[in-house]
Amino acid sequence: MNISENAEAILNKIEQKYASIDQKTETHLEGLLWSKPITYWDYIQTDALLNMQTQRTTLPDEMVFIMYHQVNELIFKMILWEMNQISYCQNIKTEFFAERLMRISRYFDMLTTSFSIMENGMEVEQYMKFRNTLTPASGFQSAQYRLIEFSSTDLINLIDNRYRGSIDRNTPYEHAFEHLYWQAAGKDYATGKKSYLLEEFEKKYKKTFLDHMEEYNSINIWQKFKQLPDSDQKNPELIQAMRHFDHTVNITWVMQHLNVAIKYIDQSGKGTGEATGGSDWKKYMHPKYQRRIFFPELWSADELANWGVEI
Ligand code: HEM
Repeated sequence: MNISENAEAILNKIEQKYASIDQKTETHLEGLLWSKPITYWDYIQTDALLNMQTQRTTLPDEMVFIMYHQVNELIFKMILWEMNQISYCQNIKTEFFAERLMRISRYFDMLTTSFSIMENGMEVEQYMKFRNTLTPASGFQSAQYRLIEFSSTDLINLIDNRYRGSIDRNTPYEHAFEHLYWQAAGKDYATGKKSYLLEEFEKKYKKTFLDHMEEYNSINIWQKFKQLPDSDQKNPELIQAMRHFDHTVNITWVMQHLNVAIKYIDQSGKGTGEATGGSDWKKYMHPKYQRRIFFPELWSADELANWGVEI
């Protein structure tokens, strides 16, 4: 048989690959003979993807709502993918860190700039009808959003501002979990009673969250930043990139989201003004009250004091 040098070199490498896992190269080559050539739709799984938009009502704008949420979840997954690369990189180099951080930032910028799809892309009349079929669910129950938070920063920065003084790095995860800032959306602190929204969320994800909190305690984005050489940690461009990410997630996105909620729930003049998830949402959602700041060491005392106030 006349085999080119290049083909022979590739065959040798394939032989080595299969030998290392006790497999017969010939069998795999024979398999190749019968395997189907790939198509776009099989690779991207378009049929599966485009079959996951199920409306609960007959109102056409509900489709905008469902699909935009799904797009968000896909982008959240892209963000978590990059965060995982940073977190699990041993002896991380600044270039690798900065490159992935910029990817993450671009994804979140995209979520922020596209939020007008919610603000202007649905008829208020239709929204106020189909939202009644969504109660008591809420975007609050997006698990990936919570995982992004745990992967971004030290746990202390996600603790409810009122309890930060009494919690430190040695606090058991279970105790820290009960004092996460987002518990405030569904917990009566006087009685300890949780809303149905929160109870269901925890029933499904609490174990995942506790595991993730522990896993990322020492490898979250902030911790990886602290592993970079001192001089790089002082690099103005890198600091600016970190601040941009923090600001986009914790102020810009949050404010876009709050403004959309105000438009539909509060100013539409329709409905009761209550959120589907049932939180004291106007207060809860404002960055000024949440004070969720991923990288507090990168902001001045003045900036911290005025977090979310400028808007
Ligand atoms: C018309 C559009 C939207 C409205 C009116 C709205 C409203 C709300 C409200 C009122 C809350 C507070 C919790 C509650 O009581 O329900 C909330 C939480 C939340 N929503 Fe939305 N939302 C909208 C779109 C979205 C989209 C597109 C996403 C993307 C996944 C999203 C993700 C979230 C998240 C992650 C939370 C929890 C935020 C936190 O804990 O700070 N929402 N939303």
